[in-house]
Amino acid sequence: MNYEGKTKIVKVTGDYALLEFKDDITAGDGLKHDVLTGKGSICAETTAILMKYLSEKGIKTHLVEYIPPRTLKVIPLKMFPLEVVVRLKKAGSFVRRYGGVEGEDLPVPLVEFFIKDDERHDPMVCVDHLEILGIATREQAEKMKEAAVKITLALKEFFERANFELWDIKYEFGLDKDGNVVLGDEISPDTFRLRKKGEIFDKDVYRRDLGDPLKKYREVLELCRSLNSQ
Ligand code: C5P
Repeated sequence: MNYEGKTKIVKVTGDYALLEFKDDITAGDGLKHDVLTGKGSICAETTAILMKYLSEKGIKTHLVEYIPPRTLKVIPLKMFPLEVVVRLKKAGSFVRRYGGVEGEDLPVPLVEFFIKDDERHDPMVCVDHLEILGIATREQAEKMKEAAVKITLALKEFFERANFELWDIKYEFGLDKDGNVVLGDEISPDTFRLRKKGEIFDKDVYRRDLGDPLKKYREVLELCRSLNSQ
């Protein structure tokens, strides 16, 4: 069975699935769209390095192996139709909703749930919504929250070794065949905000037309490769 999303193709084959990263980049619920040759391979390898790092920290992810240039072999998950965002600093839709200044610290990591639904502009929901709408049980939602914060703090530590700041990040979780909540999808400049001394190394370069996003994505991959080999 194959599913095609905005930036990935999922092929389920027997005990595993193949996640093929496309060169597409989108923003604004898919309204802004371009194809950047090479982006798929950059995001696939970045995800593979970061998920391997997480598994070394005892965090379960769907990654089995990276198949160069643009594919990840993963365990199949029954995905929650959710985006789980963790914020360490104020930015993006947080500032639009609640005010404040981009880059200001939040006192503790903030976890937000959004239903994946472009037509409704990904509505933000709380744990009660997830339960009442039959999307996740309270226990599953709490497990996602706990894992999301743990993963974020591990990644913050990873990037801090090179004086990069992780501002916020989005995850997607699913259930494995035993019902465990497992991290799926990707971790790349498409899904986090990463800054160094005011310089932007993430999809905001594309969202805000600030130059060549791929140049920054490549620099993040190089950074991950070098931190991974230390
Ligand atoms: O736009 P917002 O501030 O809510 O984004 C928070 C974080 O989640 C950012 O790092 C952004 O790149 C990521 N995100 C994402 N996919 C979305 C929405 C947000 O990866 N559909």
